[in-house]
Amino acid sequence: MLRLPVGPSLSGMALARPVLDYQSHVLLAAGVVLTPRYLHRLQDLGYREVWVEHPVSDGASEPEPLEEATKRQAMNTVRAAMRAAAGGRDLPLPRIYSLVEQIAQDIAAHPQLLTSLTMLKGADNYTFLHSANVCALSMLLGGWLGMRGQLLRDLGVGTLLHDLGKAFIPSALLLKAAPLTAVELATMRGHAQLGCQVLQQLKGLSSRVPLAACEHHERLDGSGYPHGLKGEDISLPGRICAVADSYDAMTSQRPYRRGKLPHRACEELAAQAGSLYEPHVVETFLAHVAVYPVGSFLRLAGGLVGVCLRQGDDSLHPVVRLMAPGERHPGKEPTEVVANSVPETVVLAVLEPAEVTRLLAGAAD
Ligand SMILES: [Fe+2]
Repeated sequence: MLRLPVGPSLSGMALARPVLDYQSHVLLAAGVVLTPRYLHRLQDLGYREVWVEHPVSDGASEPEPLEEATKRQAMNTVRAAMRAAAGGRDLPLPRIYSLVEQIAQDIAAHPQLLTSLTMLKGADNYTFLHSANVCALSMLLGGWLGMRGQLLRDLGVGTLLHDLGKAFIPSALLLKAAPLTAVELATMRGHAQLGCQVLQQLKGLSSRVPLAACEHHERLDGSGYPHGLKGEDISLPGRICAVADSYDAMTSQRPYRRGKLPHRACEELAAQAGSLYEPHVVETFLAHVAVYPVGSFLRLAGGLVGVCLRQGDDSLHPVVRLMAPGERHPGKEPTEVVANSVPETVVLAVLEPAEVTRLLAGAAD
């Protein structure tokens, strides 16, 4: 399967993964053949990319950390929590804890998970899916860092609700495509403090839970908000959530900007480890996340292009199927190599989605 930009060139291709709508219903199921009408609808909903089946990537597989049912449950639960917060009602805590338990079970099914950990999001379900993904990423990170039991569950609840304060921010501002004015930016930044306050006032909740909401925009060098906390003054949940939140935000397509490819987001996190982010958390994250997700097109030092089929022993050595020059399909006898294993397979570049579309279309002539 390949992750390609939504556009006319996808007409006739089958979806490899389902697309969810705002209500977390399956809008288009896996296997549905895309038509111009479906593609327009996806664009209207703010989906910039989808996963499609393509012969180039036959046999490609990548474990997904969350089951589809868990993602839907997560979207519904975050939406319910945000509505409750906005209406001044109690948060549905039993439902939230049972969701976190489900996420913990999904993650435990892939103990050596190496995946791209990105989810496709539309404009109006962004916050819900982002929250679910930040929760899953944070729980994975927490587990890799040695957190267990109730500590890990509290991290899950806190990170699931890290953007709860956005319930109080007008949706026109959340979706605004143009750059924010100083006043709007201040309003937007208020979400950290607002979410923090709601969680701190909840009875029966561990004092660890609000930390992610309160501190996920704090940065190691004191340049973050709301309090400009530095270094050790930022809690471990706050530091974990900062990395998970930044990675998911960087790699997400938004109506107003393209998402970064995972390897660029990884480079950015690595470059800012020690200044903005906790180095140990970033190192742990980079050791596990797939730098080159399945379906990525890699330009190799030997002059060929290959498509990433599956992850290898670590994040820098995926198995790649080589494409003969000018070919749309893999050669008659597809050759699989391990990226970065010998000089000819050193990865020089990852093709941008638009380049992949051109490559596949051009080679089809
Ligand atoms: Fe946030």
